[in-house]
Amino acid sequence: MRNITKSLLVATSLATVAFAKPIVTPSGVITASKVGSINLASVSTSSSMWSGSKPTSIVLYPQTTIKLNDKKGNAVNSDAKAKMAQIQAVYSGSTIAFKLTWSDATNNTMAKNASDAYADGFATQIPVNYSDPKKLPYIGMGSDGRPVVVHIAKSIPAYFEPNGNKDVASQLATNMVNAFGEDLKKNRAAIAKLSKQYHKAFISEGFRSLTEIKDGSDKSGMSMTYDAKTKKWTAVIAQSLSASSGAVPVAFAIWDGSKYNRGGVKNLSSWTAVKLQGKSGGEALIAELTSKPKGDAKAGQVQVEAMCVSCHTTSATKVASSPYMAPGLKNIGGYTTSAYLAESIKDPSAVIVPGYNRNAHKNFKWYELDAKTGKRTSTMPPMMTDDKSINDAVAYLKTLKAEVEK
Ligand code: HEC
Repeated sequence: MRNITKSLLVATSLATVAFAKPIVTPSGVITASKVGSINLASVSTSSSMWSGSKPTSIVLYPQTTIKLNDKKGNAVNSDAKAKMAQIQAVYSGSTIAFKLTWSDATNNTMAKNASDAYADGFATQIPVNYSDPKKLPYIGMGSDGRPVVVHIAKSIPAYFEPNGNKDVASQLATNMVNAFGEDLKKNRAAIAKLSKQYHKAFISEGFRSLTEIKDGSDKSGMSMTYDAKTKKWTAVIAQSLSASSGAVPVAFAIWDGSKYNRGGVKNLSSWTAVKLQGKSGGEALIAELTSKPKGDAKAGQVQVEAMCVSCHTTSATKVASSPYMAPGLKNIGGYTTSAYLAESIKDPSAVIVPGYNRNAHKNFKWYELDAKTGKRTSTMPPMMTDDKSINDAVAYLKTLKAEVEK
């Protein structure tokens, strides 16, 4: 007994030494605990690797950048609320894994025809390069010259893959009954056991530029399950990570099929710092992503309402002259960083908001395109030059965000 007590004491004091310097992480930071190994092929919500990692709440805001060309969709989303998600993170070597839990009143699995039914789903984004925390990629799937790796996962019906190439989308059982009718019948039992989930990794420099990563450089695994009792999704994803320092910016997205969510219509978090436990560096990134705006929001509001709402929508009441004139700013404070907002005001062409179909709205081009060089110049003129005005405007823009769904 004495010996056991003694060894316990030794163990405790060793533990105290190991944790003598507690990892103090400011709020808004997700800590990824270090684990022995992560098995990509069998990532699961119940794995014991999650036991040592504490959930952190993050908020995901409705992305209201581009007005949908869809009456029903617009009606459902006109007053979309922000959503909370609980995130746990673990890492091992060059793999990081996230567990996400979020509420969703309905379980929407993509049905027969993708044009009239949408799936619940989620995504992670990690910039390819994040050495300058003030110049992170555009939050909506990257931008020209600032690529991100995007993992997209969706709840879809059991799929049939005669060729086994994982090109699920072109082989969806429900779509392919005619083409593979015979095979389908033969393999009905096997199909029933197949995955009901879609998961792909892309490299992206802006929505509409997604290119699937097929060279094996990104290894990953995913699983998502809906609990009909608690009305919650729990999803896990493990993916490759090449971390240059102790903190990585990650953004999360959630699609709600019942709200006609698809593409850029989703709930989106801002860049969130993920601290890799036991790895040094990354302080500048954490400081940047947890900093509070230093300007005067009231003064900023006066300026924004005088200078910006002729083009931008900032709220339900402040409507720009056309919904296609410029990106909607209703939720801009929820999914962008202060540095990005300051850059957008000072130097609008530094990042051209991607994904807008310029040809569909000839009178509202968003940017000029130099046919020779391919260079894009924003139609938004640089608006402010002095730091005080910019800081004030940023402080106000950071307040533009929907309330969180109860
Ligand atoms: C002449 C119309 C016009 C005016 C006035 C204007 N903007 Fe813009 N703004 C645009 C356009 C078009 C874009 C999209 C192209 C781009 O990325 O520059 C944009 C993009 C932005 C973005 C990026 C939005 C996103 O979703 O990432 C922000 C932030 C922004 N503007 C803020 C402002 C602020 C603040 C003002 C006033 C101080 C302002 N704008 C005035 C046209 C305008």
